[in-house]
Amino acid sequence: MDQNPKSRRTFLQNTFLGGFAAVSADFLTKIAAQAAPPSKGRLPVVIATWDNRKATDAAWQVLARGGRAFDAVEAGARIPEADPEDTSVGYGGFPDRDGNVTLDACIMDEFGNAGSITYLQHIMHPISVARRLLEKTPHVMLSGDGALEFALSEGFKKENLLTETARLAWENWKIKSEYKPVINTERHDTIGIVAVDAQQRVAGACTTSGMAFKMRGRVGDSPVIGAGMFADNEVGAAAATGLGEMVLKTLGSFLLVEEMRRGKHPQKAAEEVVRRLAHKYPKEARENQVCYVAVDRKGRHGAFSLQPGFNYALYQAGVNTVHEAGSFFRK
Ligand code: GLY
Repeated sequence: MDQNPKSRRTFLQNTFLGGFAAVSADFLTKIAAQAAPPSKGRLPVVIATWDNRKATDAAWQVLARGGRAFDAVEAGARIPEADPEDTSVGYGGFPDRDGNVTLDACIMDEFGNAGSITYLQHIMHPISVARRLLEKTPHVMLSGDGALEFALSEGFKKENLLTETARLAWENWKIKSEYKPVINTERHDTIGIVAVDAQQRVAGACTTSGMAFKMRGRVGDSPVIGAGMFADNEVGAAAATGLGEMVLKTLGSFLLVEEMRRGKHPQKAAEEVVRRLAHKYPKEARENQVCYVAVDRKGRHGAFSLQPGFNYALYQAGVNTVHEAGSFFRK
C-alpha cells in the first residue's frame, strides 16, 4: 500500500514515460479487472482520491455531527488546498510552463446545484470560491480574471501560491522544457471527494492545480461538471483523478453516476467507465493514468483505475482507512 505521495507521483511519472506500444482492443478485453469485492452500504460515508485521509477526516468531522455532505466535501477539499507539501492542489501546486499557479475546482450539492472555478490565480481555496459562486450567483462556471475578481469581492485573500519547492521544480523543468501536447512528463494528483450524509444527502467536490507545467490557459477535467466530478442526489456521486484530457473526452464522472442509476454497484460502475475508456482510447489508456472513486446513496462505494498504483481514502463507520484500488491493467 503506497501512502507516500512522492512515490505515487514517481509511479505516475514512470507510467507517463513508459513508452508502451499501442495495444489492441482484443488484448484489452483479455485483461482481468483486479477489483475489490463490492462494498456494503453504510451512512454516512466519504471517499477521496489518493491517500487524502486528512481530507476525509475533516469531512468526517462534519458528517459525524449530523452535518451536510456538501459542507463535508468542502471541508475535506480545503485540506490539500492549504497544504504546501501537496504539489498538485492549491497552495504549493506546480505552476504552468510560464510559472503561474492556476487552479480549477468544482462542487455540487444535494439539490443538483453546481459551482465551478477555472484558471483561478492567487486564491488558496478555489473550492470555497466555487461554493460561493453556487450560492450567490446564477452562474455555474467562472474563469480567470473574472473568477479572481469575484473571489476578491467575496473577501478571499490574494496570495502568492508558488512555494519555493514548486518554483525550484519549475526551474528544473525549464532546463529541458519538454512540453509536448501529448503529455508524458507531468504528474498530478487531484483530490476528488464525494460523500453521503446520514440524511442521505449526496455531494461532491474536486480541486486541483492541474497538470504540472501545462500550457498557459490549459484547463483540465476537474472543474468540468460531469467530468472531474458529478453528484446526483437520486443516485450518488463520482470523482476523477489522473489525466484530465482523457476524463474530459469521456465525461467519466457523469457516466459513472449514470451506470449506478442503471443499477450498478459503485465498484462495477467504476470498472465499466474505466473499461470503456480503455476500449475507446487503447494507446492513450496504456500510457496514462485515470482513476475514479464513487459512492451511491446507500453508502456503498467503489474505486478503480487504469493503471495499478491508485489508492483512496475512505471514512465509514467511524474508521478512516486507505485502500489500494483495483486496476484495468496489471502493470
Ligand atoms: N485531473 C486533473 C487535471 O488533469 O487537471
